[in-house]
This record gives sequence, structure tokens and C-alpha cells, in this order.
Amino acid sequence: MQVPSVSPDWWRELFDEVYLKTDFRSVLDGDVTRGEVDGLIQALELQPQEAILDLCGGHGRHALELARRGYGRVLVVDFSLPLLDIGRAQAKKEGLAVTFLRGDARAVPLARESFTAVALLANSIGYGATCQDDLEILREVWRLLKAGGRLFLEVADPEFVRTHLARQSWHEAPEGLVVCRRRWLTEEHLICRELVLCRSRGLVRDRAYQMRLYQPEELRTYLKEVGFSAIRVAPQNEPDSQPQERGSLSRRLAVTAWK
Ligand SMILES: C[S@@+](CC[C@H](N)C(=O)[O-])C[C@H]1O[C@@H](n2cnc3c(N)ncnc32)[C@H](O)[C@@H]1O
Repeated sequence: MQVPSVSPDWWRELFDEVYLKTDFRSVLDGDVTRGEVDGLIQALELQPQEAILDLCGGHGRHALELARRGYGRVLVVDFSLPLLDIGRAQAKKEGLAVTFLRGDARAVPLARESFTAVALLANSIGYGATCQDDLEILREVWRLLKAGGRLFLEVADPEFVRTHLARQSWHEAPEGLVVCRRRWLTEEHLICRELVLCRSRGLVRDRAYQMRLYQPEELRTYLKEVGFSAIRVAPQNEPDSQPQERGSLSRRLAVTAWK
């Protein structure tokens, strides 16, 4: 099978209700999210009164968990309207004060120095056509942070992806879905074609997407270029022992950086 061509805008369309089902083992598992929030709180020593931005926060699973733990000033920015709607509805249902805002992470419609902490969790960069897009996101994080503020960023561990990630996989997902993935590795990217089939409805989705694989040194260089200091990039073991395959996110690099 040939390496599929990937639309540079794939990320504008993929993250919807179907994605929540195809990736349910990560994004709908409360234990996984709680473990990730433990990691975030620990890494940044987050305090409840802080102004926290969950950038590319999707349906706000981390932001909602922070709010449940008493963090009262949490805001989610994401491009996906369906995910934001799901997050808003959940916040309303639980009476949690989380704000959801639609925006492009490269140009967030918020005033500079609005936050003391920014989280970019679960591999939400590396989607753009060039690394310039990611650099723009990091510059936005810098602009949005107050002096002394910090960033926590997670990306797929490139070594794990190259040595352990199955080139083909399939799994069953909620509502009778079957998710089949075929993966290719280039020097810079992980490319994936995803077929989603439904027992009753047939083909639900046939999409290709890609993510840039960042080496720790590259991340350090970009963050330094933007102005960050005290940059730490470390492989992160799973916070919980997750027996199921969670794709490229099974092992991550965790990055902390200070403005
Ligand atoms: C893998 S999902 C992770 C979502 C969330 N952080 C989580 O762990 O549940 C990546 C998210 O990044 C968002 N995203 C990607 N690029 C973006 C951009 N340039 N601006 C805003 N959101 C973006 C997508 O809409 C999607 O919700």
C-alpha cells in the first residue's frame, strides 16, 4: 500500500465525535485522564488559584478534572466545535466553572500574559504542514504566559514510535465501530491511514493524518528560540499501567519550560 497523501488541514476536521470513539481508550478513560492530570499538577506544581490554559484541550477532559479538584480558573482553547460543545455540556452538567473558547493555537484570541500555566497535552502539536506552525504555537504560549509562568507539553516519544508502534492495528470501539490503522514512518513524520467501519452502517471514515516526530533536542532548540528557560525534556512512563495499546501516546516525552 502506498503512503497516503495527507491534507495539510487534516486536523481541522478529524477531531469530532467519531474521534472520541476511535480514541476512547485514551480520551474517554477517567483513570487515564486523572493520571495525566496528576502528572501535570506535579510537573508544574500547580496551585488552585492559578490561571491555567488547556491549549488544544479538545473536549476539556483535563480542564474538567482540574476543576473537579478545585482549580477554579481553567480555560480550554481548541479549534474543534464539536469537542468544545461536548466539553461545555459536561461542565454545565457537573456545575464546573471551565470556559471553552474556539481558537487557533497559533493566534489565540486572548490578551497577552493572561495565564500562569499552559498545558499542551496528549500530542497536540506536530500537525502542521511545517514545524513553523508549531513554532507559532510555542510563541503564542510565550505571549499568553505571565513572567514566571510555565508550560507543560507532551508529545509522542519518537524512539517508542520507531521501535514499538505496530505498523498495522485494529480495535473495537463503542457503538459497533472497528478502527483499522496502517502506519508509515518517514524521517520526520508518523503517517497514519485510519479506516473506521461500523457493523450496521459500513464505512464511517477513511482519513489520513500525520504528526511530526520531535527529538528532545529539537524541542529544546525551539523552546529556547522562543525565549523559554529551565527547559526539561524527559521520557515519561505511563502514569497508570495501561494494558491496552494507546498508539503513539503509549509513551511520551514530557516537557516543562519556564518563561
Ligand atoms: C489529540 S487531540 C488532544 C486533545 C486534548 N488535549 C486531550 O488530551 O484530550 C488534539 C487537539 O488539538 C486540537 N488542535 C490541533 N491543532 C490546533 C490548532 N492549531 N488550534 C487549535 N486546536 C488545535 C484539535 O482540535 C484536537 O482537539
